Amino acid sequence: MEPIISARGIKRYYKRGSETVKALDGVDLTISSGEMVALLGPSGSGKTTLLNVLSCLDAPTDGTLVVAGKSVAGLKEEALVEVRRGVLGFVFQQFHLLPTLNVAENVELPLLFLGLKPDRRRTDEVLAMVGLSDRKTHLPRELSGGQMQRVAIARALNIDAKILVADEPTGNLDKVTGEQIFQLFKKLAKENDLALLITTHNTAFGYKADRVITMEDGRIVKEEHPGSAQASLRP
Ligand SMILES: Nc1ncnc2c1ncn2[C@@H]1O[C@H](COP(=O)(O)OP(=O)(O)O)[C@@H](O)[C@H]1O
Ligand SMILES: [Mg+2]
Repeated sequence: MEPIISARGIKRYYKRGSETVKALDGVDLTISSGEMVALLGPSGSGKTTLLNVLSCLDAPTDGTLVVAGKSVAGLKEEALVEVRRGVLGFVFQQFHLLPTLNVAENVELPLLFLGLKPDRRRTDEVLAMVGLSDRKTHLPRELSGGQMQRVAIARALNIDAKILVADEPTGNLDKVTGEQIFQLFKKLAKENDLALLITTHNTAFGYKADRVITMEDGRIVKEEHPGSAQASLRP
């Protein structure tokens, strides 16, 4: 399978006075379409930094990165915006819905930013994919946390993204709702051939992914495949 993200020797160093924080210190990772990858690891291990670099929100200090066929490392912000356009969809812990827009309008917002005309049929389709067909005209404050996150997921799907990234998407949700959101992510990855990259503190959620990457001190220290035959043989 052709990788949609291919990263080699990724470093992201932050200078703080005379000190250098090595947020990422040599990460190699490839992700294919249709694959759901979870990033686990303690707070400060570099999960968010890795997510931001792989999704072209942040540029690495060193290393090579190819995203959807484009070589990314060394590009400046304007060029990174071009790589993200229509390729990357984002889901956040805080949902980031506009409170004055209804569900359908929130879902259509990124299309307006891309200069595209929203298509009501497509809006209906992505809302059906996240199970919210009956909430189109509701305002965010009339929804539960899980429903708000589903709207955010529909919004990310609406631009026909090839890669969906989510930083702690269940951080503000209870256990049952969080689990449902992970199940939804998994279904969406398979049905739409989407690459999904998700960080989580919740190990049980993380193990629902196809691949679990554990980080420590800016490096990958473990990689597991929970769904594989090998994993199911484990006691
Ligand atoms: N903008 C920044 N400036 C300086 N240090 C940072 C910055 N962002 C993150 N760091 C540091 O990089 C390390 C990794 O952070 P982060 O990627 O947010 O970890 P995680 O998401 O796993 O909690 C931490 O030590 C953090 O303090
Ligand atoms: Mg983080």
